[in-house]
Amino acid sequence: MIKKVFIYGSAQLGIQIAWFINNDYEILGFIDTDPRKHTINGGGYIKVDNKDYIIYDPDILLDMQVDKIFIGTEVDIYIAQIKNTLLNYGISDDKIDLSLTFIPYYARLNFIKTISLGFQEENITGAVAELGVFRGKTAREINRFFKDDMFYLFDTFEGFSEKDIIKETGLARQANTNDFSNTSLDFVKKQMLYLDKCCFVKGYFPESVAQISQDEKFKFVNIDVDLYQPILEGLEYFYPRLVKNGVILIHDYFHPYYTGAKKAVDEFCQKMNLRCLPIGDAFSVAIFK
Ligand SMILES: C[S@@+](CC[C@H](N)C(=O)[O-])C[C@H]1O[C@@H](n2cnc3c(N)ncnc32)[C@H](O)[C@@H]1O
Repeated sequence: MIKKVFIYGSAQLGIQIAWFINNDYEILGFIDTDPRKHTINGGGYIKVDNKDYIIYDPDILLDMQVDKIFIGTEVDIYIAQIKNTLLNYGISDDKIDLSLTFIPYYARLNFIKTISLGFQEENITGAVAELGVFRGKTAREINRFFKDDMFYLFDTFEGFSEKDIIKETGLARQANTNDFSNTSLDFVKKQMLYLDKCCFVKGYFPESVAQISQDEKFKFVNIDVDLYQPILEGLEYFYPRLVKNGVILIHDYFHPYYTGAKKAVDEFCQKMNLRCLPIGDAFSVAIFK
């Protein structure tokens, strides 16, 4: 008998899991904690291989029997919250499937590590940076892979700014200044493996760049700020400061809600006559110099 499953998380990771499993399981729909995304509230449907799936509130678990729930978010604190929610709905641990949750994340880390090894082999020098650090999960790995390089970490460390949110359209317009505020500079410092190589640039980007030397050159930059305005500003700032063969990685290009990410990258690439390439993690594209 074909197993009936829900996917918890209706953004790009959830969709990517659906692409992967839809021949082997009956997907009953998506579940999301955020009421703005529910189909019944105008959040729309998720189309996967020409089939429309409903986005439900977790309460659907009171009405429908399910064999398995795939977790479609890679953020640790959200995974813990979802597991808790599911347990409260009587879903046992063995029905919670995390086997596909981290595949895109590891693909992305693999890309970053491969780039770092290539730079070592070719003696390409320069600083590295992350714009959009949150709790430092990816920053820790960047710091590990580029342990001998100066690492700039740009974030408000307080979440999104209203100045950026008002430029969004569609569902991203509902982004909130509380989103990603569950962090602090001290917390992130503790995650780093080579703290002496880290320069924390706390504040609203691009204004925060005044805190560093404008002559710095970068070989790798990870832009992960979700919204149109800071992504565009990030590209405008870092691309001219990229060394030859340097790489900028941009997250969320394929995100169904944060559509400003693709808009910013496409606009920048068109203006500069550049091409961006998907890196195979279902989220991100890279630009090379
Ligand atoms: C998705 S999170 C980053 C996740 C992180 N890269 C990781 O791997 O865990 C997005 C971050 O971008 C930051 N951000 C968004 N707009 C910003 C801006 N204009 N200036 C500084 N930080 C910003 C937010 O504070 C948030 O921490």
